[in-house]
Amino acid sequence: MKYRFVLLFMFLFMNAQLMAQGNAAGKDRPVRTLVAYFSATGTTEAAARNIARLTKGELCGIEPVKPYTAADLDWRDKESRSSIEMNDGAARPEMKAVAVDPTAFDVIFIGYPIWWDLAPRIVNTFLESCDLSGKTVIPFATSGSSGIANSAAVLKRTYPALKWQEGRLLNGADEAALCRWLGRNGYVFE
Ligand SMILES: Cc1cc2nc3c(=O)[nH]c(=O)nc-3n(C[C@H](O)[C@H](O)[C@H](O)COP(=O)(O)O)c2cc1C
Repeated sequence: MKYRFVLLFMFLFMNAQLMAQGNAAGKDRPVRTLVAYFSATGTTEAAARNIARLTKGELCGIEPVKPYTAADLDWRDKESRSSIEMNDGAARPEMKAVAVDPTAFDVIFIGYPIWWDLAPRIVNTFLESCDLSGKTVIPFATSGSSGIANSAAVLKRTYPALKWQEGRLLNGADEAALCRWLGRNGYVFE
């Protein structure tokens, strides 16, 4: 009888260990990961797809109701849509309904192109579209050359109820670099 009890205990213990290894955060169920991104010209989207593939996360595009034209994206034109939006801290470009419920996830990667050293305002639209209080949120970005520090700091300041992790600029990041960064965030790769 005692022997059976010891065996049962060992089985339960080993099972718990295996489950922890299969999870990003060592909880007793798989971490649900969302990779939400806005991308005007495809660069950030490519990075988002890689993160979703490696983390087995759900990919979710943040799309404006009115797509950005090349003229809208002209940063040299002070009157272009992007210039006007980025000059207005309260601008919240309308977003298409997203295909998933972001509140159903534990970890949310949020990706964007750097615009004027900030996240495009539609990222604010997304973050304000539902209550993500207490969720782990990890920013990533692509850019011409700017770093992610300022845009990530502004997001953290604007949404203090979210559990912000250190962001990462993914310009030209290869798979090894991606895995190292994801590993630091608790993701395990065989
Ligand atoms: C309106 C606008 C503003 C931009 N501002 C910056 C900037 O401040 N710093 C920078 O390095 N790149 C800047 N860029 C370049 C983009 O961040 C870069 O091309 C990015 O990779 C585009 O990503 P996407 O293809 O996902 O839209 C800007 C681009 C646009 C359209």
